Amino acid sequence: ARRSRLIQALPKAELHLHIEGSLEPELMVALAARNGIDIPFASVEEVRRAYAFSNLQDFLDIYYQGMGVLRVERDFFDLTMAYLERANADTVRHVEIFFDPQGHTGRGIAFGTAIGGILRGLEEGKARFGISYRLIMCFLRHLDEESALATLAEAEPWLDRIDGVGLDSSERGHPPGKFARVFARARELGLKLVAHAGEEGPPGYVWEALDILKVDRIDHGNRALEDRRLVERIVAEKRTLTVCPLSNLKLCVIDAMGQSPVRHMLDLGIRVTINSDDPAYFGGYVNANFIAVAEALDLSEDQIATLAVNSFAGSFLPEAEKAEHI
Ligand code: ADE
Ligand code: ZN
Repeated sequence: ARRSRLIQALPKAELHLHIEGSLEPELMVALAARNGIDIPFASVEEVRRAYAFSNLQDFLDIYYQGMGVLRVERDFFDLTMAYLERANADTVRHVEIFFDPQGHTGRGIAFGTAIGGILRGLEEGKARFGISYRLIMCFLRHLDEESALATLAEAEPWLDRIDGVGLDSSERGHPPGKFARVFARARELGLKLVAHAGEEGPPGYVWEALDILKVDRIDHGNRALEDRRLVERIVAEKRTLTVCPLSNLKLCVIDAMGQSPVRHMLDLGIRVTINSDDPAYFGGYVNANFIAVAEALDLSEDQIATLAVNSFAGSFLPEAEKAEHI
């Protein structure tokens, strides 16, 4: 109970959140009705029952299906506001959220419809809750690099409102090196760079993300712990890892919360952070992730506070703004 109170009170930043993964079944059903879309579920309960995954791909299949109810700008706005209300309730003061433009343009929804609604939500959240934000556009790694390059070109009119690019979707068989050119181009444009690596993929994918893509942060990074030289590098370069405990459990990256690498990462001196990834699918927002991992690993109050401090330290806020939160 003391832990829960501390977690609730601590100001936090969330650095690994797919906005499409915050689509709660209630909103999915409501948007399906509003847009006249048939979904293969009769009720909210039935949607929730479908959320049993044995790996990342199982989840992704349902995740791409779920985002099909997002059609018009207002849908993306409502989605973003719903997330920010939950984040605000969890004392999150800063968010760096991902969106998957190819998940929308690939089904005929304009880039501007998606990003326009998300940005309007982020602005409203800043005005209403005082939550600052960054927006990170992710490329789907199961698609080819040409598609990613076309997406970056499509984003050009919006680049003053996009802070970074990321890499997500099916990791196995899609190493970061496949996206060398598009990340080089994003880097020339002055964008921040992140990539999912070492969630299911091997430590070699984390090396590639650092060496070839030159990312600022690693999303997940669990499997980095299998490689001592890689750990040394991550510590020496103060690289942030955005770990997602409930996601790891639901996607069978770990078999029990007691296997979460968070405590080990803290002990190694890695700048690890706690995030919710796709909270509507994995059963909890950021505080639920903190509580689950703190209980299972018996984290001290100092360790919990360190995780919250790390979330600001690892953010893309300017140093002066980080200091205001820490
Ligand atoms: N897209 C949404 N969530 C993801 C995750 N955890 N890993 C890879 N791609 C994703
Ligand atoms: Zn993710």
